Amino acid sequence: MTVTANPNKALWEKGDFTRVAEAMRASGEALVARLGITPGTRVLDLGCGDGTTALPAARCGAEVLGVDIADNLVTAGNQRAEAEGLSNCRFQEGDASHLDDLADDSFDLVVSIFGAMFAPRPFDVAKEMVRVTRPGGQIVMGNWIPNDPTLVAQILKISSSYAPPPPEGFISPMTWGVEKNVIERFAQAGVPADRIDFSRETYTFTYPAAPTDLLAVFRTYYGPTMNAYAAAEANGRTEELHQELTSLFASQNTSPNADATSIPATFLQVSVNV
Ligand SMILES: C[S@@+](CC[C@H](N)C(=O)[O-])C[C@H]1O[C@@H](n2cnc3c(N)ncnc32)[C@H](O)[C@@H]1O
Repeated sequence: MTVTANPNKALWEKGDFTRVAEAMRASGEALVARLGITPGTRVLDLGCGDGTTALPAARCGAEVLGVDIADNLVTAGNQRAEAEGLSNCRFQEGDASHLDDLADDSFDLVVSIFGAMFAPRPFDVAKEMVRVTRPGGQIVMGNWIPNDPTLVAQILKISSSYAPPPPEGFISPMTWGVEKNVIERFAQAGVPADRIDFSRETYTFTYPAAPTDLLAVFRTYYGPTMNAYAAAEANGRTEELHQELTSLFASQNTSPNADATSIPATFLQVSVNV
């Protein structure tokens, strides 16, 4: 196993997020379809994973750069783009808190769907997103909402209740799901509140097996859930955590078919006119 000094990077290189992302492809495509991307649009997908939104943007003819902190996901994204013959889509490693390799004003659209929210130093993240977006361009973020009753907010909430307390000064990624925090962060980056729009949207997790099987994917491949199980095990609470998550996945499933899972999850969509 690679030893890394960056816990943010280590969290996302743990497991294999591509396995979770497979349950999110349809919603990624639907979100991109709403963005009105035209051929030649310069798109940065920040915290892109293996390209759930980057690839659909490239299929629209955009020039897409995916940036992610996890090198396994960058590799997976490049492989997916290559397999589809999308020469207008490439992925590279980078940190949303300091996009050192990227020039000012170099993108028409910066998209970050459940990506940049997980980077440390949110004020730096807002500043970097604004810096690399050209004047007149747009930033679109998808952020999970704290205490929202739907799937991912609840997974993260339950997981954190089993984990040791975070280090001092840690700012929860979920704060990106609170409008006043978003406004404050972009204000400090020079964008006034009247150029920010908010809406509540839905991402649906679809999986061709029972909800317990989708939970198994999270348990085996999703860094935050893997860490929660490890912390629960260290405290003899594995079964308690497992029961809580099993009930959550079962109660959220809307599929009438016992061998299929369809779970809608609410998020805050943030659109910033730079
Ligand atoms: C929940 S996944 C979402 C991935 C992708 N946007 C999607 O919709 O499938 C979060 C992603 O953010 C990335 N990430 C976390 N911290 C980051 C940082 N500081 N800079 C860039 N990417 C980061 C992770 O590696 C991971 O790919």
